[in-house]
Amino acid sequence: MKKTEADPPHPPSRPTTRLVTGGRDAAANHGFVNPPVYHASTVLYPTVADFIARRARYLYGRRGTPTSEALENALRELEGPACAGVALLPSGLAAISTALIALLGAGDHLLVTDSVYQPTRKFCDGVLKRYGITTTYYDPLIGSDIARLFQPNTRAVFVEAPGSLTFEVQDVPAIAQVAHARGALVLMDNTWASPLYFRAFDKGVDLAVQAATKYIGGHSDVMLGTVSANAATWQRLRDTVHALGLCAGPDDIYLALRGLRTLGVRLAQHHRSGLKIANWLAARPEIARVLHPALESCPGHAVWRRDFSGASGLFSIIFKPVPQAAVHAFVDELALFGIGVSWGGFESLAIPFDCAGARSATEWTPGRPAVRLHVGLEDVDDLIGDLERGFAALAAARG
Ligand SMILES: Cc1ncc(COP(=O)(O)O)c(C=O)c1O
Repeated sequence: MKKTEADPPHPPSRPTTRLVTGGRDAAANHGFVNPPVYHASTVLYPTVADFIARRARYLYGRRGTPTSEALENALRELEGPACAGVALLPSGLAAISTALIALLGAGDHLLVTDSVYQPTRKFCDGVLKRYGITTTYYDPLIGSDIARLFQPNTRAVFVEAPGSLTFEVQDVPAIAQVAHARGALVLMDNTWASPLYFRAFDKGVDLAVQAATKYIGGHSDVMLGTVSANAATWQRLRDTVHALGLCAGPDDIYLALRGLRTLGVRLAQHHRSGLKIANWLAARPEIARVLHPALESCPGHAVWRRDFSGASGLFSIIFKPVPQAAVHAFVDELALFGIGVSWGGFESLAIPFDCAGARSATEWTPGRPAVRLHVGLEDVDDLIGDLERGFAALAAARG
C-alpha cells in the first residue's frame, strides 16, 4: 500500500510524536501533508433525498470542516485515550466560559481557585451569577481540604495550575478525588503547561481548557481556545457549543494546527531558557523571590515536581522593597522584553502587576513590586544582558 492511499497506521507513540502525526490525513488531501483552509458556510447535497436525510460528511460550516476536524483530531490524540472530543472556540476565554456553561445551570454552586485568570473570575461573578449560579473561591493550595467548601449543590470545581500571575501549583489529583466523591466535575485551565507538560485527564480533570492563543499558536498572531472533554462531559460540551452557535475562524484554526506541530521543541526551549533566567534572577540582590513552579521558592513546588513534566516560559519576580517608579524604569529599559498582555509567543514580555484587591479567599503575601516575565525564544544570554541593563536603570531610578 502506498502511504498516500490511506492514513498510515501509527505505532503507539509519545506525546511529542503525536504533535507531529496527529490529525493528519494526506489521503483526503491529494497527498499534501497539511489540510487546506476551508472558508465555508454552505455544503451542497447531491439530491433532495440526501438533504432531507442529512446524508453528508459535513453539514454546514459552523458544524465543522476538514480544517477544524484536523485540529480537533490532533488535540484529541495529544490528550490521550481518555479524551472523547475537542471543541474549538474563538478565544481562550470563550473556551472557559463555554466549558462552565456546559456543566452548570441555575441553582448550581461552583468552586473556583482564588488564583484564577481575572476574566474567568469576572465571568463567574457577572454572567454566571446573573443566571443563578453561585461561586465560592478557594485557596489554590487547599488540596483535599477543599472538601469543607462543598455544598449539596456543588456541581463543579475550576482549577488552574499554576495560578495566573502568582504561580501557586494546585494539587489537582487531590481536588479531583474529593470532587468526584461528591459527584462534582473538574474543569481546568491547563494553558501554562499545555497537554505536553500536564496530562490533565490522567490527573482527574473532566474538561481541560487551552488558550491556544498562547503556546499552541505560539506566534502571537492568533486568537483561539480549545476544550478537551472526557466521556462524562463530551456530549454536554458538544451540545452547548452547537446550541450557542460557536465556531472559530478557519485561518485561526489553521495557524493553531501549524503551531501545534512545533509545540514540543518550542516548549522545551521556553523551559530551558525560562529556568536559566529564573535561577539567574533568584541570585540577584534586587530580587526577593522568584515565583517559578520549578523553583523551591514557588508555592506548590513539590506538587509541580510530582505532577508536571516540564515548565513553560512564564513566571513572576518579586522585587525587594523599591519605589514602583524604579520598577517601571526597569521594564521600560528592556529592549528584548516587550510590554504587553498575553504570552506563549516566540517573543519575551514583561509586565508589572499587583494582586492586591484581586483575591477574595486568600491574602496574597509574597509582596510587591511584582513583574511577570515571559521568556521567549531569543538567545538566553541576550535576554540576560537585557535584564542586566534593566537592573542598571532600576538602580539609577532608585538613586
Ligand atoms: C491562563 C489564561 N487562561 C486563559 C486566557 C484567555 O485566553 P484568550 O486571550 O485567548 O481569551 C489567558 C490569556 O491571557 C490566560 O493567561
